[in-house]
Amino acid sequence: MSTTNPIVNPNPKRILVLGATSGIAEACIRIWAARGDSLFLVGRNPDRLAAVAADARTRGAAFVDTTVANLDDTATHPELLAHAINALGGLDIAYLALGVLGEQPKAEKSFAEAAQIIHTNYTAPVSLLTWLANYTAQRHSGTLAVLTSVAGERGRKSNYVYGSSKAALSVFVDGLRNRIDREGVRVMTIKPGPVKTAMTEGMGLKASMLADVDVVAQTLVKAIDKGTDIVYVPWKWEIIMGIIKLIPERLFKKMNL
Ligand SMILES: NC(=O)c1ccc[n+]([C@@H]2O[C@H](COP(=O)([O-])OP(=O)(O)OC[C@H]3O[C@@H](n4cnc5c(N)ncnc54)[C@H](OP(=O)(O)O)[C@@H]3O)[C@@H](O)[C@H]2O)c1
Repeated sequence: MSTTNPIVNPNPKRILVLGATSGIAEACIRIWAARGDSLFLVGRNPDRLAAVAADARTRGAAFVDTTVANLDDTATHPELLAHAINALGGLDIAYLALGVLGEQPKAEKSFAEAAQIIHTNYTAPVSLLTWLANYTAQRHSGTLAVLTSVAGERGRKSNYVYGSSKAALSVFVDGLRNRIDREGVRVMTIKPGPVKTAMTEGMGLKASMLADVDVVAQTLVKAIDKGTDIVYVPWKWEIIMGIIKLIPERLFKKMNL
């Protein structure tokens, strides 16, 4: 389903959002919709996806279309991506927000749980990015914006399975940027610290630790417009993780983080 917005935006961006029901993605979608961009939204929960799309139309998106898909199913990616880009009439920005925190205690006992976390957070994005990188590099344009995490900066006992999947994704994205930036494609490694979304509910973090999702989205939309290579959001997490990485391993291994 699509809508046409009579409000003038002479150059609406054509944006593909993968994992569009994510709290961080939804907040970005609200901003993109309000400025009249065109959106193709992919998510696995049909009701929530429909609600996000309806909200984007109400806010003024130039065009909104959706596909319900479980992005763990990598075999469907080429057809899904081609369909989305065809519907948008091209691609300016692909925004990868899918991710699962998983259950660290379960993953310590069950390889199946660890493999699921790694598949959703690393293998599925690699499949999406492989197709998207070749599409954008051939056309010498586009931005690939990928949500990894500060959790990937150093392994900690509380979430090293999730953290390692995000570390792997960060390195993949960094390498992809080294490959195709020279082709005219901006590739962005986005590293949020803790943000108040469904993912951090129930983690027992103090409210003061959690960034506001709308503030984070404002930072990200601006950074995506600029095509900044690596974005820590909020910015203080670059300093915090810089310090955490400096702690000698002989001390770090005894800490409860
Ligand atoms: N919130 C934070 O503190 C934080 C910090 C650092 C990094 N990040 C990263 O930022 C991204 C967005 O996170 P968020 O905070 O917005 O969390 P969120 O609200 O839990 O969003 C995660 C999204 O990924 C979707 N998803 C998971 N597996 C999927 C699959 N197989 N197919 C399609 N969609 C799938 C989820 O869909 P369902 O709703 O259907 O489950 C959900 O919409 C994630 O990659 C996350 O790892 C978040």
